[in-house]
Amino acid sequence: MDLHNFLFILVSLITTVYLWTQWIEPNWFRLHRETIRVNKSIKKPLTILHISDLHFTKERPLLRRFFDRLAKIDSDFVFVTGDLIDSREGIGPCVEHLKKLKSRRGIYAVLGNHDYRIYPAHKQWIRMLTGKDCSMERPETNELKKALQEAGVKLLVNQNMPVPINESQEAVIIGIDDPVTGRADFSQAFRGIENGTLHIALVHAPASFPSLRRFGIDAAFAGHTHGGQIRFPGIGPIPLARRLSAIIDSTDCYGFAGIVSRGLGAQDLTRLRLFCRPEAILVRIEGM
Ligand SMILES: [Fe+2]
Repeated sequence: MDLHNFLFILVSLITTVYLWTQWIEPNWFRLHRETIRVNKSIKKPLTILHISDLHFTKERPLLRRFFDRLAKIDSDFVFVTGDLIDSREGIGPCVEHLKKLKSRRGIYAVLGNHDYRIYPAHKQWIRMLTGKDCSMERPETNELKKALQEAGVKLLVNQNMPVPINESQEAVIIGIDDPVTGRADFSQAFRGIENGTLHIALVHAPASFPSLRRFGIDAAFAGHTHGGQIRFPGIGPIPLARRLSAIIDSTDCYGFAGIVSRGLGAQDLTRLRLFCRPEAILVRIEGM
């Protein structure tokens, strides 16, 4: 092979990988289905639509089409596990998309670190490589909270809410505030829970799963890791992702079903994805 052919193949390869990881796979959304079995007797299986890590900065036409598809799903609950926005302009489209979703028992959400802090894009790589926090307080967090509440989304900030799931049983949804920015208060979040057939926790980062073990919950939903964003078939996420979070995928290692979403977005400069399609998860919860 002469030099010209070699350079042509090399440039074509780099261009293809760039286009795929930056533009094609980040917009190739999937609806992933999981079934979990809890150690409780529930009269009828529950269907949960789990959304996470939207990172909205503006309208995203392809994501809108995916939400139009999600809006046709008739679920019992919609759970949203944080990182809804990355700018003030993201609040409008984020709330508009969530409002479209149908659920018999409502939409419940917790916030993530990007909802509370601004991570300057050019410093994200420093954070990934060194773990050093280069973030600043986000001024529009209260605006986001207000918009969610006005849209009927139940935002749980270290609090819990009992919700009937049939005539004689109820689920308690426990929302833990963002652990990444030090806002999680587990005792406060679980305070006052007396009964409830099913106890389900929502938390942005799955690194909190070990702390949830002592509360005897049935299931937990999280996001934050984006699945590692770069994965290889048969191997999983790259080692850098493991450095940022020990728990990246769904797990039942902590005495409950821990569902971890790969999310539907990422911050602009770090949005690349390879073998890690953005996703919403449709979870079926079955009893004994
Ligand atoms: Fe995120």
